[in-house]
Amino acid sequence: IFTAPDFDNHEQVVFCNDAETGLKAIIAIHDTTRGPSLGGCRMWPYASEAAAVTDALRLSRGMTYKSALAGLPLGGGKSVIIGDAKTQKSPALFRAFGRFVDSLGGRYIAAEDVGTGVADIEAMRQVTRHVAGTAGGSGDPSPVTAYGVFQGIRAAAKAKLGRDDLAGLRVAVQGLGHVGLDLARQLYEAGAALIVADIDLDRIARATTAYRAEAMPADRIHAADVDIFAPCALGAILNDATIPEIKAGIIAGAANNQLAEERHGAALMKRGILYAPDYAINAGGIINIHHESAGKYDRAAALRQVEGIYDTLLEIFARAAAEGIPTSDAADRVAETRFGKHRQAA
Ligand code: NAI
Repeated sequence: IFTAPDFDNHEQVVFCNDAETGLKAIIAIHDTTRGPSLGGCRMWPYASEAAAVTDALRLSRGMTYKSALAGLPLGGGKSVIIGDAKTQKSPALFRAFGRFVDSLGGRYIAAEDVGTGVADIEAMRQVTRHVAGTAGGSGDPSPVTAYGVFQGIRAAAKAKLGRDDLAGLRVAVQGLGHVGLDLARQLYEAGAALIVADIDLDRIARATTAYRAEAMPADRIHAADVDIFAPCALGAILNDATIPEIKAGIIAGAANNQLAEERHGAALMKRGILYAPDYAINAGGIINIHHESAGKYDRAAALRQVEGIYDTLLEIFARAAAEGIPTSDAADRVAETRFGKHRQAA
């Protein structure tokens, strides 16, 4: 653990064991400079304990950057429960996990992630108040994430094309899930022409019918002849194979970890493609959850703050241009000044 990538940057890593329920979990607290660490609790059947540690460390670090960049008074943390969400869940397991969360006295606040849902958070809530994303709280963050991505696309259009009115622009949306379909709606209502792809045919049918979208094969959508490419499905979509084929001048979408490797940020810059860093543009969800954890949830106030993603992105684009660095690096630097740490020399 002490030699694991990223461990050095972490404040605290907690290993949790509960014999009665079989709970084996890790809570990683990356940084609490700006406030308590908030991040999802993932349940996943990791192939090894080392893989679980690596995931927890990488994800918690990402949350520090995301929240700092969004200007939230939050640090970064994340937790993983080692297990199969389909067969190994029980309220008792999540209560046991909740007791570990509670033992941290609010240094870590747990929310939903891959493999966990509102019911699991509710089980934790029986034993700790340090949870967010509860029933009757802020609800599904996806439409708010989509709203933030829409604002980010407008900012990217402003920086690249000198206009933030999207009417008549062609946008390719990859993935029409919780975020992508709602984003398609917002783009359609703003007058953009849509090209879409999904591996789920029902999802495509919804977009082609409701938003007059044109469909394209899922494995070719990145190469669509469009102004803007919005990845809203998988991570690592920007890689050695796809980058040379991209025709869009702007990449701005919701998916997490879009760059297969850090160096792909530079590859996009080299090709003159403006990339809206993923954790900057997709922060609408965490902003929404923050508004719940900060007290009484006010959706209008949450949406107002999400609109700030527009200015955050303009700041990142300006810094990248001024310093001649990829936008992904500029985002890291802006975030690092906000949480008061300097990037370690690579
Ligand atoms: P989702 O699971 O609802 O939607 C993903 C969609 O992508 C599905 O319709 C799926 O069929 C499709 N898909 C999967 N593989 C594909 C492929 N090869 N080509 C085309 N489509 C494919 O997920 P959700 O919630 O919409 O999230 C989308 C992305 O945004 C994910 O990367 C997620 O991590 C990220 N994100 C989501 C947030 C949220 O609030 N839901 C917040 C921040 C990031």
